Amino acid sequence: MLAGRRVVLGVSGGVAAYKAAYLARRLTERGADVRVVTTESAREFIGDQTFAAITGHPVIGHLFGASTSVSPHTELGRWADVIVVAPATAATLARLAQGLSEDALTATVLASRAPLVVAPAMHTEMWEHPATRRNVERLERDGVVVVPPGEGPLAGGDVGVGRMAEPEEIVAAVERTIGEGPLQGVSVLVTAGGTREPIDPVRFLGNRSSGKMGHAIAEEALRRGADVTLVTTSALPSSPGLTRIQVETAAEMEQAVERTDPDVAILAAAVADFRPVTAAPEKIARTAEAPRIELEPTPDILAGVVARRPRPLVVGFAAETGSLERAVRKAKTKGVDLLVANDVTEEGAGFAVDTNRVTIIWPDGRTDPWPLMPKSAVAARLLDLVEELLDRESGSGRVSSPAEDLERPGDGR
Ligand SMILES: Cc1cc2nc3c(=O)[nH]c(=O)nc-3n(C[C@H](O)[C@H](O)[C@H](O)COP(=O)(O)O)c2cc1C
Repeated sequence: MLAGRRVVLGVSGGVAAYKAAYLARRLTERGADVRVVTTESAREFIGDQTFAAITGHPVIGHLFGASTSVSPHTELGRWADVIVVAPATAATLARLAQGLSEDALTATVLASRAPLVVAPAMHTEMWEHPATRRNVERLERDGVVVVPPGEGPLAGGDVGVGRMAEPEEIVAAVERTIGEGPLQGVSVLVTAGGTREPIDPVRFLGNRSSGKMGHAIAEEALRRGADVTLVTTSALPSSPGLTRIQVETAAEMEQAVERTDPDVAILAAAVADFRPVTAAPEKIARTAEAPRIELEPTPDILAGVVARRPRPLVVGFAAETGSLERAVRKAKTKGVDLLVANDVTEEGAGFAVDTNRVTIIWPDGRTDPWPLMPKSAVAARLLDLVEELLDRESGSGRVSSPAEDLERPGDGR
């Protein structure tokens, strides 16, 4: 599967460009997030609208003048997990072999560290020409995966070698190339968003969490091949490759979490610490005297997960306002493997923004402050840490934990 993997599909100008539409469809069916980049000649064979409709994203066909990005080739090149050029014309193969970057497609390839898969398609004479042979050999020496053309009917009624490989074959080559992600076979639970505790049918006690951080982590885990369950209160979109459970209250979140049995639990949701003891069945009317709302502690979801035997690797989150002292205490006492703390009052950190400045706190109290970064970068770095911890623990089992000394539920979440 290619769930959550980022695939740039480069289409150059041959008759087989129509098959690139099937290929885009097959890649999206396998769960890949596909962006198409076309050459000028490709647009003579197939319209952008076809690819845009299949992938759900606009096609990139020009280096200059695109309204969406000032530097489309570097953005796309960095974004890609893999680039596949299908069909690859003789002309495009020659440019790629030479390292030329004169259009959006070749510039994207050159601006990327992602592996490159090419599926040549051309008339037999072009395929067998010494110049093409040289270019293909050069590309193979550079580590490019070449999916060779097959034999069969070609454009103009000819028959011979040069027919682009079938889309299924190209998808298989892409899967082989990017292989299994580092978290393949690992089940990851992520909670996200702020819970809403009803006061009456229209009012609730809530918080400012948007779910952006948790969603970014879930998407990154998916991209790394994990089997991801996202328990979220947020309305943010998520990839179809993950299992999403929509909840609203702390109790619903706890029930959803209880039904999972993950290897890794990343509890990024902002769970209410208190909820109204009862929710009024009807809207509370305005009265001269304001009503008193009695509160009770909500279930401590983190403590529940940490108390499991065997227990998953647990990453907790703490949103603080001011000092991180309480977060350090939480990291030491809650039995987590690591805690991600942030001061939500700091500029660029916390709720509803796309960046975050977090401090990693280890169970022994060591702290590691990270600089301000996009939430997607925080997610990537955090999952690097999770991978390291999993590597370290593999084979050792994780039954014994420092979780014996838990605080009372409701404390310091
Ligand atoms: C009808 C037609 C079909 C073509 N089919 C191919 C093809 O299958 N493979 C190829 O290498 N070139 C083919 N060409 C030539 C390319 O379109 C031409 O070399 C072009 O410059 C390639 O540009 P690009 O690689 O930037 O897309 C074809 C040209 C025409 C007019």
